[in-house]
Amino acid sequence: MKISVAIDGPAGAGKSTIAKLVGKEYNLMYINTGAMYRAVALKAAENNLSPEQINEICSIVNDMEMHFENDDLILNGENVQDQITTPEISNIVSNYASIPEVRTMLVKLQRDMSYKFNVIMDGRDIGTVVLEDANFKFFLTASPEERANRRFKELNNRNIECSYDQILQDIIERDYKDTHRATDPLRKADDAIEIDTTSLDINGVVRTISEYIKKGK
Ligand code: DC
Repeated sequence: MKISVAIDGPAGAGKSTIAKLVGKEYNLMYINTGAMYRAVALKAAENNLSPEQINEICSIVNDMEMHFENDDLILNGENVQDQITTPEISNIVSNYASIPEVRTMLVKLQRDMSYKFNVIMDGRDIGTVVLEDANFKFFLTASPEERANRRFKELNNRNIECSYDQILQDIIERDYKDTHRATDPLRKADDAIEIDTTSLDINGVVRTISEYIKKGK
């Protein structure tokens, strides 16, 4: 039987950093589902497709081969990790992630990965939809200000020009869209363990999750 760990939570709660570290500790493949939605937004933008052009977008998604190597998303043979994490893509991605037809296609790809590999998967609907029967489910939160602060530092480290106030506003807007969309909105699964990371450092969160996994619940 395959092992699966689901990590959900809002943007900037530390999901990907934590999932990568826990994945290394337990030898699980890290699947960053947000990266997959970002890749759809990237391809749609490259082809000048607005979120209303659902058939055309689905046809593009059909031709997208996605897998992960060293935690990076490889799209049709190309490492697109840097291209999908720009502020431009962050600003448009939720418009594409809210398309039900796109979600159906990506959820299927994500489940297929979980049948083949032991996975740790992060996103918004992993514990509630994609891996409803995951062995472990965690829901990470942090205040919007702390999450904006983390994104600001991360973009600064990559020499991407940005303003803290703008990032905070984007995070608040994205939270609203992610929790209010009609299909698979962000919400904590009833059986997920909630961890507020506002005043925890990365190691503290990893240790907390690791202890639950070791205990087997
Ligand atoms: O985690 P992230 O910021 O890279 O996610 C990018 C977008 O994709 C964000 O608007 C939420 C959406 N998303 C989603 O709807 N479902 C997922 N499983 C993962 C991400």
